[in-house]
Amino acid sequence: MEKKDLDWAGLGFGYVQTEQRYVSNFKDGKWDEGGLTEDANIVLNECAGVLQYAQTCFEGLKAYTTEDGRIVTFRPDLNAERMFDTAKRLEMPPFPKERFVEAVKAVVKANAAYVPPYGSGATLYIRPYMFGTNPVIGVKPAAEYQFRIFTTPVGPYFKGGAKPLTLCVSDFDRAAPHGTGHIKAGLNYAMSLHPIVEAHNAGFAENMYLDAATRTKVEETGGANFLFVTKDGKVVTPKSDSILPSITRRSLMIVAKEYLGLEAEEREVYFDEVKDFAECGLCGTAAVISPVGKIVDHGKEICFPSGMDEMGPITRKLYETLTGIQMGRLDPPEGWIVEIK
Ligand code: PLP
Ligand code: COI
Repeated sequence: MEKKDLDWAGLGFGYVQTEQRYVSNFKDGKWDEGGLTEDANIVLNECAGVLQYAQTCFEGLKAYTTEDGRIVTFRPDLNAERMFDTAKRLEMPPFPKERFVEAVKAVVKANAAYVPPYGSGATLYIRPYMFGTNPVIGVKPAAEYQFRIFTTPVGPYFKGGAKPLTLCVSDFDRAAPHGTGHIKAGLNYAMSLHPIVEAHNAGFAENMYLDAATRTKVEETGGANFLFVTKDGKVVTPKSDSILPSITRRSLMIVAKEYLGLEAEEREVYFDEVKDFAECGLCGTAAVISPVGKIVDHGKEICFPSGMDEMGPITRKLYETLTGIQMGRLDPPEGWIVEIK
């Protein structure tokens, strides 16, 4: 199969339309057979549930070309499971998990020419999503839904690639206790648009959100979980019911312990202790691991000893091990790598 002639190394995190996408519709209480289509456009009734009451959710994962030329995805079963949980919380019909994984495989295979080559620094981002399609005007869940998956080749999420980021502590809250912070609902991202525009206008790459109830504990950013490294080399990640259970973060905790022999702990992290960490990073499918050099809290700067020039040493080891597993340079734990054939 011949690859498309794209400037792979020059890609940012943007939408590049690819050839095929997967579509399945839910009607009369069941999902139809589904299949691939070349049609990238969606025609909806003006009163569709998604347009009125934002009944929509999504997932994100990637396909990689390995060193030996295979195309693989990373733990798609966990995306299937998280989307299942998200759908239930939003009163949407969950898409069957096995079908989710099969649909991911089908759409990646159909767009194999867009999976960036090994070593290009780019990957194929896979975006499953679901939304209410029938007219809804009283506040209630839709009765009909569409599940889709498109793919788009992407480069680094943050401009500058692996250069450490500067974040600011947000005055806005991302998620309430007992709210929707732990699921991948579109509404969580809609509410983050104003804070992210403000952060960008002030020169920051992202927001650090604190817990809404007490504003004393670290939660996450708009699109990634936090990882910290203590001065004695322990990996620490915030525990909270209102952050998204990142698949990258859960994987990195295993990588830290089982590949690197590090201590790794998920616990509440108070904002007051952030100044004492040696390294900080953001982790997620899009972010991979993006190092954080500085966090600004209303003019007060927290500068991590790892500095503003490169990743800290443990962050780098985590990054290299995770991407080594994803790109086929290291043996994966059982079930982590799913080959597309
Ligand atoms: N947190 C938020 C708010 C996100 O949007 C994402 C992206 O999916 C993550 C964390 C990272 O999750 P994952 O590693 O599963 O991509
Ligand atoms: C992802 O990492 O897949 C996400 O969904 C985050 C989003 C901000 C791009």
